[in-house]
Amino acid sequence: MLNLTPRVAVITGGASGIARAVARQLGKEGIRAIGLVDFSEAVHGVAAEINKALGRECVHAFQGDVTDKSFRASVFADLKRRYGGVQICVPAAGIVRDGLAVRVDKTTKKAKLYDQELMEKTIAVNLIASTYWAMETIASVAESRAEQGLGAWSGGDQVEGAIVFIGSISSAGNKGQVAYAATKAGLEGVTSTLAKEAIYYGMRVAVVHPGFTDTPMVRAMDPKIIEQAVLPNTQLKRLLDPAEVADAICFMIRNPAVSGAIWADAGWHAPA
Ligand SMILES: NC(=O)c1ccc[n+]([C@@H]2O[C@H](COP(=O)([O-])OP(=O)(O)OC[C@H]3O[C@@H](n4cnc5c(N)ncnc54)[C@H](O)[C@@H]3O)[C@@H](O)[C@H]2O)c1
Repeated sequence: MLNLTPRVAVITGGASGIARAVARQLGKEGIRAIGLVDFSEAVHGVAAEINKALGRECVHAFQGDVTDKSFRASVFADLKRRYGGVQICVPAAGIVRDGLAVRVDKTTKKAKLYDQELMEKTIAVNLIASTYWAMETIASVAESRAEQGLGAWSGGDQVEGAIVFIGSISSAGNKGQVAYAATKAGLEGVTSTLAKEAIYYGMRVAVVHPGFTDTPMVRAMDPKIIEQAVLPNTQLKRLLDPAEVADAICFMIRNPAVSGAIWADAGWHAPA
């Protein structure tokens, strides 16, 4: 099992939901430090609350936009200055912007396509930013190994670190989510490619696909849709708790035998 005690993580989207639950659990499991990133100012309160519960200064809050390259660089530079580098990343900041791919206006009979700017925005946050925060983490480990004169990682349980991307059940297709599904399916390709490249530096890369989880992202949906279209299609007949998804993520970080993808989906499958 990966020893978390000397390791430092970056978790994005950490002011809320699944990422906040991951920070809480990694803190309890004894990780050395966490950079908790979010553009909401609530990230400061979340960091303070977790530190209070842990009784130590484990979590550092960074408020900014994950799509901003210079912000990303400043977070990694700060953590390098304090701790020497970052070895774990859960790039969880994400947005959902639902809409049918093609919708015909009943009056004009004209078809309207899903808004291209929304497509680009969703890809920028969910796919491109997540990928770059992960690659920055791999770079941190790669540089640290180069400074120590280390070449290819030589095997064993104590890998250098791990990345866990947050996909979604939508990656398998879901009506009204052409943009979101594209980003989450895209993370599959990123995961399998980075997994092949990053093991050179001793870094594992995996993806978790959560089902509908009780977070502000899902609570923003029409409650009738949750009751009538989501819950009946789950095995548990309830939303997942963020802590349940966080548990799957922390398991994937700790256990070196796990690779690829885990579906923490309560058995939900998108209807045709
Ligand atoms: N809740 C679900 O049912 C569910 C299911 C599958 C996957 N996911 C994924 O899990 C991840 C976390 O989702 P959640 O449900 O906890 O959502 P959430 O809305 O509770 O949290 C997302 C956080 O990301 C932050 N964020 C969004 N855009 C940002 C940006 N550009 N820069 C910095 N921070 C930004 C938000 O401020 C928010 O705090 C997302 O990637 C989401 O797609 C969620």
